[in-house]
Amino acid sequence: MRSKALFAIVIAALAVAVFAGHSLAGESKFRKSFRTSYEQNRFDAMGFLVKQNKDILPGEIQSLVDEAKAAASFGEKMQLLDLANTMATMHKEWHGNEKFLGEIEKLQREEIQNEEARKAEAEKWKKYENFPGNLIMKEKETELAAIGLSPVIFPHWVHRINFECKACHPALFPMKKTNSITMTPIFEGRLCGECHNGKIAFDAAESCERCHVAGRPEEAALLNPKKADIAKVMESSERLKTELNLDLLPNKALPFDKFGNIDWMLLKGAHKPIKSLKEAPADQTRDNEILFESPMPYVNNIVFRHKPHADLILCSSCHTDIYKEELGSTPPASMTQMAQGQSCGSCHGKVSFKFADCNRCHSKPVSEGPGKAMIRKK
Ligand code: HEC
Ligand code: HEC
Ligand code: HEC
Ligand code: HEC
Ligand code: HEC
Ligand code: HEC
Repeated sequence: MRSKALFAIVIAALAVAVFAGHSLAGESKFRKSFRTSYEQNRFDAMGFLVKQNKDILPGEIQSLVDEAKAAASFGEKMQLLDLANTMATMHKEWHGNEKFLGEIEKLQREEIQNEEARKAEAEKWKKYENFPGNLIMKEKETELAAIGLSPVIFPHWVHRINFECKACHPALFPMKKTNSITMTPIFEGRLCGECHNGKIAFDAAESCERCHVAGRPEEAALLNPKKADIAKVMESSERLKTELNLDLLPNKALPFDKFGNIDWMLLKGAHKPIKSLKEAPADQTRDNEILFESPMPYVNNIVFRHKPHADLILCSSCHTDIYKEELGSTPPASMTQMAQGQSCGSCHGKVSFKFADCNRCHSKPVSEGPGKAMIRKK
């Protein structure tokens, strides 16, 4: 018996806690009492309030409906409409007024349909970015549909076979999804048009559908490199003299890690990607190791090696937007922050191997000490 009472108190406390964050500015006294009783499932109290306030009820219900229509998120809309529905149901029950209930139920059905459509739309595009580095470019979807073209897939992996990151970043593109690409600069030889000009790569003016490929059968070979057309990949490498030689690899095929991603570190010995489209820049690199100390003894320390990064990526892509160029000067990031795109998450989980591969970064047991790595003091 005692535990049951305690349980009820806990539930009530939780309900209050859940709604505590909700903006209540300008809430009427009636609504506040009604809402509090609603959150506590006190139907007797709600019934009493409705019976006592017949005259103001239509105004109260209407203002909930108006606020729901104006609310920004689905969650807020549904919370307001649920409350309005409860008031309107009691209004009908006690005062015989059915006007509001029908309208509210119609709104609720519409909102749920909209939300489902929005989720289905997001789901539809998700598969395009499943493989690390594949980007879907669909900002101009409506405009494209009008002329019978699909959105564009940009596959990082196809390009990485022939180009280092430094060939494109930051000279041609920032390291972020801008959703701002259009055809005019491409036809003028900028952005994608730096290469897609019939010289370095196929001509944009001639092969619309090789880029505008989402939803076409040819997309399969881009979305999953295990289905890649290897003859086509070899042909590009030969033309660009990047010396791709799959015979040097263990399976004489593109190498995949245990998560199904291309193992770029393994591929490294079997091709020579281009570093710059212009004259060769002074090829800067840096060869040292930095130890990120793990905050818990049972999680391995993290070793960051400058060389494999600086071979591919310009110093300016990391310094100083992501890291200051001084040991320990960048505040620590949690794995959650990294998964949201900070620190190592600027690339890992997006274009480079995913966080699921914990021990590729957490590679040094705490008991082993730093070895030759410099320790990043926090
Ligand atoms: C052929 C050119 C090219 C190469 C090579 C290239 N990128 Fe990109 N990258 C792009 C383009 C294009 C975008 C999208 C830009 C836009 O939306 O305007 C992009 C976007 C990105 C983004 C943002 C992705 C996101 O989901 O927000 C990251 C991170 C990135 N690149 C990292 C890299 C790294 C690391 C490498 C080397 C391993 C690399 N890129 C190689 C062209 C390239
Ligand atoms: C640094 C040069 C370069 C840049 C910049 C570049 N590409 Fe490419 N792209 C290539 C090369 C090389 C290939 C391989 C095909 C070939 O050799 O013609 C390729 C292949 C592709 C493919 C595979 C299509 C197929 O049928 O094989 C797509 C899709 C693609 N690029 C889209 C883009 C888009 C979109 C952009 C701009 C956001 C872009 N590329 C920018 C060089 C580049
Ligand atoms: C090298 C890749 C590539 C090729 C080839 C290409 N496009 Fe595009 N195109 C893009 C990208 C990237 C966008 C931006 C897509 C978005 O964000 O919705 C785009 C957008 C567009 C748009 C909408 C924006 C605007 O500029 O009006 C049109 C229209 C378009 N392309 C037509 C064409 C036609 C027609 C062809 C062939 C003659 C073609 N494209 C070939 C990459 C390409
Ligand atoms: C992939 C990202 C990345 C690239 C590319 C990169 N760095 Fe760093 N760098 C780091 C990180 C991470 C740290 C550690 C930052 C901290 O401790 O706060 C660091 C630290 C440094 C430091 C201080 C520690 C040390 O090594 O003496 C210097 C100096 C530095 N980088 C120079 C460079 C130069 C020069 C290049 C280009 C040749 C370069 N970095 C390329 C990520 C990068
Ligand atoms: C791309 C490299 C990378 C991968 C992959 C990675 N981590 Fe980390 N992790 C780090 C770095 C770097 C730090 C320290 C960050 C700092 O101090 O700024 C860290 C910190 C942590 C921390 C302490 C901070 C926190 O978030 O509580 C934990 C725990 C952790 N990692 C667990 C994991 C687990 C579990 C996985 C696999 C699911 C994983 N990490 C995969 C790079 C990585
Ligand atoms: C600017 C992009 C970028 C950032 C930031 C970045 N990486 Fe990487 N990292 C790469 C690329 C590209 C590779 C090549 C392998 C791949 O793409 O899967 C790589 C490879 C690695 C490897 C395998 C090579 C090796 O050293 O054994 C490790 C480990 C690694 N990164 C750890 C980290 C850690 C830890 C951080 C954060 C402190 C970090 N990276 C930040 C782009 C980045």
